[in-house]
Amino acid sequence: MKILMVCLGNICRSPLAHGIMEHVVKEKGLNWDVDSAGTGDWHIGSPPDRRSIAIAKKYGIDISSQCCRQFSASDFDEFDRIYVMDKMNLRDVLAQARSEEDKQKVRLLLNKEVVPDPYYEDDQFDAVFQMIEKGCREIINEELSK
Ligand code: 4NP
Repeated sequence: MKILMVCLGNICRSPLAHGIMEHVVKEKGLNWDVDSAGTGDWHIGSPPDRRSIAIAKKYGIDISSQCCRQFSASDFDEFDRIYVMDKMNLRDVLAQARSEEDKQKVRLLLNKEVVPDPYYEDDQFDAVFQMIEKGCREIINEELSK
């Protein structure tokens, strides 16, 4: 299974989702590939936001070597599932879908809830980490129960 985590900047939420999913995948002994990307281009080539690096480190996950890249339509060819954080990400990713098959790959990470953008909210990183971890564990549990 190849999974792509997508947010707007690819410096706050999706790098956390990338690192957390890799961590849980390893813990469960699964052979899944995980990556992340942003719909925007502002931070291409940058490491994750220092606040995301710090909160991941607090929970024993190192995301400091990740490098921001932009989502592109070719990601639909590369990945089996594309998880987005909020409704704007959903709209922006779906706008690049070339077929119904592409569209079927795209889902909200939390299914019925969105992961809010913590970029301007220093104190939200812990809550965002918890939301993303819950989402990642639910995805894996659902997959393992099939
Ligand atoms: P992210 O947060 O989408 O969780 O990476 C953001 C980071 C940067 C910007 C927006 C959102 N920005 O506008 O630069």
